[in-house]
Amino acid sequence: MGNENQSPITTKDIAGKLMRARTLLHCLNGVHAGGLNRLNYIEIGTAFKEDEGLSTLLAAKFIEENDLDGKVISMELFPEHIEQSREIVKKYAPDVLPMIEWHEGYSYLKMSPILESTGEIHLAFIDGGGSPVENLWEFDAILKYLSPTGVIVVDDCVHLKSTDAYPARRDFGKAQLILPLLHLADTVNFVIDSRRKDAMTVEDGIASILPHKAMSPFLKGLMESEICIEMFQRVKEFAFSQVGSQLVIARKNVMADRLGYDSQTNQMAIT
Ligand SMILES: C[S@@+](CC[C@H](N)C(=O)[O-])C[C@H]1O[C@@H](n2cnc3c(N)ncnc32)[C@H](O)[C@@H]1O
Repeated sequence: MGNENQSPITTKDIAGKLMRARTLLHCLNGVHAGGLNRLNYIEIGTAFKEDEGLSTLLAAKFIEENDLDGKVISMELFPEHIEQSREIVKKYAPDVLPMIEWHEGYSYLKMSPILESTGEIHLAFIDGGGSPVENLWEFDAILKYLSPTGVIVVDDCVHLKSTDAYPARRDFGKAQLILPLLHLADTVNFVIDSRRKDAMTVEDGIASILPHKAMSPFLKGLMESEICIEMFQRVKEFAFSQVGSQLVIARKNVMADRLGYDSQTNQMAIT
């Protein structure tokens, strides 16, 4: 990888052979493909180790290389990680420092006002702690601000070992609760689509399933709840695909037209 004594580092250099960075770069290219002139990126979990993914540097470099407006918002729990992240950026691309905002603290305590003042988010990277409840909160908070062609990438969607801080099982890692929500919403959408009623709302779709004899009281209660209907509405047009250990989520047309997603195989080819 280049440094300040060599030629300027590029997003290609940064992505290198790291799969997680390659997926991010693929998504950045997809988001930009429609000719955006502004790109707002938010990540939960700043990149503080050179060998881990360099997401902060990568996103800022992408904005610069493509001459875009926009910014990088990096949410991070520990001040020392923010310092290490700043040092990495300073070392490889000091010119992009002004476009990065590091925010210290827990994502779920700090993010809402930051999202509100930023407006649309074009790419989000959920890569902070591995608490399923927090990860679902982060996902839902970002969805409300996601641009029509926006993409969300969730990292570490593989079995995570139990820790003292989180001893429960997490077979889908940071997507432990995000995936069930998406699958449930997908099932409702399937019912709506298979009835070929274009004007059917999510509420109509749910109402049409409720009388089914196989509907358990638990599922019925869940589906009738206001919050469930709200979340289904938010993810109605979305598709998702697992790429290595990452989960990529975007509106169906964005997945197919810009990210190379094949709905038949549920695969996404990373360029
Ligand atoms: C895996 S690292 C991030 C790696 C980085 N995205 C990259 O690509 O190299 C996870 C970071 O998230 C931070 N973190 C954990 N839980 C968090 C939370 N709830 N809010 C903000 N940051 C959090 C950790 O301190 C750690 O620095």
